[in-house]
Amino acid sequence: MNNIEMKYNFNLEYFEKSADYVKSKIDFKPQTALILGSALGSLASDIKNPVEIPYEDIPDFLVSTVKSHAGKLILGELYGRKVVCMSCRFHYYEGYDYEQLVAPVRLFKLLGVENMILTNAAGGINTGYKPGDLMIIRDHINLAGASPLRGPNDDRIGPRFFDVCNAYDEGLRTLAKSLAKECSLRIQEGVYAYQTGPHFETPAEIRFLRMAGADAAGMSTVTEALTAAHCGLKTLAISLISNMAAGVNNNRVDGEEVDYVAAQSAKEFKKYLSSILAHMESQEDE
Ligand code: HPA
Repeated sequence: MNNIEMKYNFNLEYFEKSADYVKSKIDFKPQTALILGSALGSLASDIKNPVEIPYEDIPDFLVSTVKSHAGKLILGELYGRKVVCMSCRFHYYEGYDYEQLVAPVRLFKLLGVENMILTNAAGGINTGYKPGDLMIIRDHINLAGASPLRGPNDDRIGPRFFDVCNAYDEGLRTLAKSLAKECSLRIQEGVYAYQTGPHFETPAEIRFLRMAGADAAGMSTVTEALTAAHCGLKTLAISLISNMAAGVNNNRVDGEEVDYVAAQSAKEFKKYLSSILAHMESQEDE
């Protein structure tokens, strides 16, 4: 083993250990994986016949750093679809290495999941957006300057160099847009700019990002979307615009405001997501 392999040897067998444990607890194959941002955590309570698996029980999985929030996988049926849902996600700003952050999506892939829905709260950069809007992510700008796919590559999981033009699956975006009329929140489609946080952006960074074509800014989602693109898992990602980003108006960016707007919009966002899940199923049935 060379020095890099000694640090992390994240080959297929490593992730199979986690997946085999989860498979031993369920008698069905999840179709869709859900990683829900702060706005939508309550959606997990709608899952029927839930099987709950604490992250710490899963061999070689990551453990949540948020003490008040015991992390767990919740598997069951949601609006007619078999799902695996994370009660909370892992962020780089919590102190994990990028290489470790591939674990959830690799696990989903090995469970046989067909597609994945990611949600998050984000700051609006596009001046046409308002807090409370939803934004279907069409593409992203990764300001982290690093990829979770760095390090030794196991070609059985995905290729060393891989295309990310369709990281946010066009078919799933079209489906989400076609259901926008049913949602009382305004649905936008745009580019998500990712930086690692935990600080919000500076006003100068937001001006720079607007010139670069970004519509919203956030601290999650890109890691998971890149990992999914690598192993060929289709992704739909939706941001709730919880605030206008730094310097867009005269307000300071405030974590409490983010949570407040997220909570206000949760019910409608949930309804929208439920109709997306229901239609995903009918698409496959056709
Ligand atoms: N910037 C980055 N992340 C965020 C923001 C923001 O303005 N709002 C919610 N998450």
